[in-house]
Amino acid sequence: MAKVYNYLMEIIKVTNKLEGSKKAFELFKNTYDAGANTFGLATGSTPEDLYKEIVASDLDFSDRISVNLDEYVGLSAENKQSYAYFMQEHLFNQKPFKESYLPNGMATDLNEEASRYDELVLKNEVDLQILGLGQNGHIGFNEPGTPFDSKTHVVDLTESTIHANSRYFDDASLVPKKAISMGIGTIMSAKKILLMAFGENKADAVYKMINGSVDESMPASILQNHPNVIVIVDEAAAELI
Ligand code: GLP
Repeated sequence: MAKVYNYLMEIIKVTNKLEGSKKAFELFKNTYDAGANTFGLATGSTPEDLYKEIVASDLDFSDRISVNLDEYVGLSAENKQSYAYFMQEHLFNQKPFKESYLPNGMATDLNEEASRYDELVLKNEVDLQILGLGQNGHIGFNEPGTPFDSKTHVVDLTESTIHANSRYFDDASLVPKKAISMGIGTIMSAKKILLMAFGENKADAVYKMINGSVDESMPASILQNHPNVIVIVDEAAAELI
C-alpha cells in the first residue's frame, strides 16, 4: 500500500462546466506561457470545452508535444469512437502539435505497445496532465483495484465504465471491452495535474477522491499524494465536499 503524504490539493469550485473550462484554460495557458513542453491530454465530455477555449485562443503548439492517456483496443484512428479521432476533431485539426501520441489500440502485441508507450511518456516528462474522473473514480482507464504503481497497461473495462461510455456508441455491445491506458504510476509522474469533474454523477467520486482514504479501490485518491494537483469542480460535482 502506498504511503500517504497528505499534500493539499487545490480545489477550485465553479458554478458550471463552462466557467470551469475557462478557469482550466487560464491555468493551462499559464503553464504554456511558463514554457511547458509536453501536455498530457484526456478525452471524454469533461475536457471538451477546455479544448474549445484552446482552439479559440492564439496558442501555438507547433513546437510542443502531446501524449494522451488512453485508447480503446480494436478501434483505429479512423473510427469515430476512437480517442485518436476525438482528439483530431476537438483539438489537433485546429491546433496541430509538433508531435502527438496516443497508444495504438490496433497493435498486434498489445502488451508490447503498452511498454513502448510507457517509455515514450516517461521520456517526454509531462509538464501538465489533464484528467477527467470516472464515476467509479477511475483516472485514464485505471479501474478500481489497479495498483498505484502501475505502468501503461492493457485494461479490462468494468461494466460500469462500458455502460457510462455506451452513450457514444450506437449500441452498448459495440463498446470495446479493453483499452490501453497510462498506468497510475505513469500519470503520477506528471509534474502538474489538472483534474476536472462536472455534474452530479461525479459527486461521490469527487468526495472520495478528496476526503476518502488513499486506497486502490478509489484510483483518483492517489492524487492526494501528488505535490501539485488542481481540481476544478462545478457545484453539482462538489455537492458532497
Ligand atoms: C472515460 C475516459 C476517462 C474520462 C472518464 C470520464 O472512460 N477513459 O479519461 O475521464 O471516462 O468521462 P467523461 O468526461 O465523459 O465523464
